[in-house]
Amino acid sequence: MADQVATNITWHEGDITPEMRASNMGQRGATLWLTGLSGSGKSTVAVELERMLLSRGKHAYRLDGDNIRMGLNKNLGFSAEDRAENIRRIGEVTKLFADSGMISIASFISPYKVDRDQVRAVHAESEIPFFEIYVACPLEEAEKRDPKGLYKKARAGEIKGFTGIDDPYDEPEHAELVLNTHEQTVQESAKALLDLLEANGIVS
Ligand code: ADX
Repeated sequence: MADQVATNITWHEGDITPEMRASNMGQRGATLWLTGLSGSGKSTVAVELERMLLSRGKHAYRLDGDNIRMGLNKNLGFSAEDRAENIRRIGEVTKLFADSGMISIASFISPYKVDRDQVRAVHAESEIPFFEIYVACPLEEAEKRDPKGLYKKARAGEIKGFTGIDDPYDEPEHAELVLNTHEQTVQESAKALLDLLEANGIVS
């Protein structure tokens, strides 16, 4: 967890309540946090869910590991410390998006349980709905897909510390939902997330 460095700062409360935002936007804000191996299907499912939500007139926005690492987090690599900071920053950003009334869909490997739990805690402190989604896919299957050719490079020793090969992935133990992307279609996975949002009163 990052330490508070700045001193002499005071929280400035606004006038807008979560209920006002919800009635304005026709939905409640929430974060769907998709975690899983590279190539497990996180980004693909996120794209389909975002499309489904927008086609229903809902407001959603994707935050994707590779994309965020080209901007906000371009100064971070893949050491444990940098991955922790990557997830901490995105946890804060998804919380802000969700607080604004958006459905934020984060797809990050987020391999360490402690970092994911911290994101959950940050949402809980602000009473913002948070759903951890385990995008489960056997390593062999992700490696077979290898959409970016990175597993091949990792096996050849050209990438060090690649998640699932020579860097760990802590499987979620208490995910709100598990998607088995090797057994269900992208549409089925996205629909399951939509159903989860409906069942929890985020969208109707
Ligand atoms: S995380 O571990 O910090 O959550 P993140 O989701 O942002 O990772 O980025 C993962 C993406 O970075 C992968 O999908 C892959 O394209 C790329 N990548 C490059 N090097 C690595 C590595 N050593 N381990 C995992 N992913 C890597």
